[in-house]
Amino acid sequence: MIYVNRLNKHFQDSHVLNEVSITFDPHITYAIIGSSGSGKSTLLRCLNGLETPTSGVIKIDDVDIFASKDNLAKARSNMGMVFQSFNLFEHKTAIENVMFALIKVKQHTKEEAFKIASQALDKVGLSHRYNNYPHQLSGGEKQRVSIARTLAMSPQLVLFDEPTSALDPEMTIEVLKVIKALVKDGLKCILVTHEMTFAKEVADMIVYMDQGKILEVTPSDDFFTQPQTLRAQQFLSHTQFKGETQ
Ligand SMILES: Nc1ncnc2c1ncn2[C@@H]1O[C@H](COP(=O)(O)OP(=O)(O)OP(=O)(O)O)[C@@H](O)[C@H]1O
Ligand SMILES: [Mg+2]
Repeated sequence: MIYVNRLNKHFQDSHVLNEVSITFDPHITYAIIGSSGSGKSTLLRCLNGLETPTSGVIKIDDVDIFASKDNLAKARSNMGMVFQSFNLFEHKTAIENVMFALIKVKQHTKEEAFKIASQALDKVGLSHRYNNYPHQLSGGEKQRVSIARTLAMSPQLVLFDEPTSALDPEMTIEVLKVIKALVKDGLKCILVTHEMTFAKEVADMIVYMDQGKILEVTPSDDFFTQPQTLRAQQFLSHTQFKGETQ
């Protein structure tokens, strides 16, 4: 369980997270949606300690992650994060990118790391791309390498922050397919996405944010047909969402 209580985050004079409280159940897939600047990435970054909240508490299984460096390190070792910009090492091949943290952080031997990394790359459909450098890969392939790199570390939870927003529509579909399959396979994740059809299909719960606040936590079947708040109704009416599935 991730328990977030009265989280606030200020950047200079802007109040980016405003009394955010929510409990994330590990058995449930969440999609966080909301307009640009509503605080989605900041919330995700607080969950894995990339940002330190100004006030409030985040507990994972009753452990306050900001209470000590050890607590934070432990929480982070169980959590993976996939960003919009793939953050790959340009001078390393796909397999070397995936092996890197396995060797440096998890202290696996090269042979073990290769085995784990190749399994992760196979899982995202890149068994033919082990030896390609990032500049030889499409955007969708780069994002799949970045997902494989995260999976290889066996995290208990993966945070995805708009994993497809840097991709063209075709590559978006290929990456979303991979994420959907992983979730179906049991991957636990919290996703920030602006892909409404995807959110509806993959998430059990929609967390709707507006101006630094969580306005709704609603089962996705209900959210897209009958959002509880006027703000969410307006948000949905401005998105391209038509309710169709791909
Ligand atoms: N490091 C920072 N320094 C100053 N302001 C920041 C910083 N990070 C975020 N902000 C501000 O906080 C607000 C929320 O940003 P955040 O990135 O969490 O929004 P978001 O909901 O993820 O938006 P988007 O959909 O555009 O990614 C924005 O107004 C942003 O400019
Ligand atoms: Mg963001």
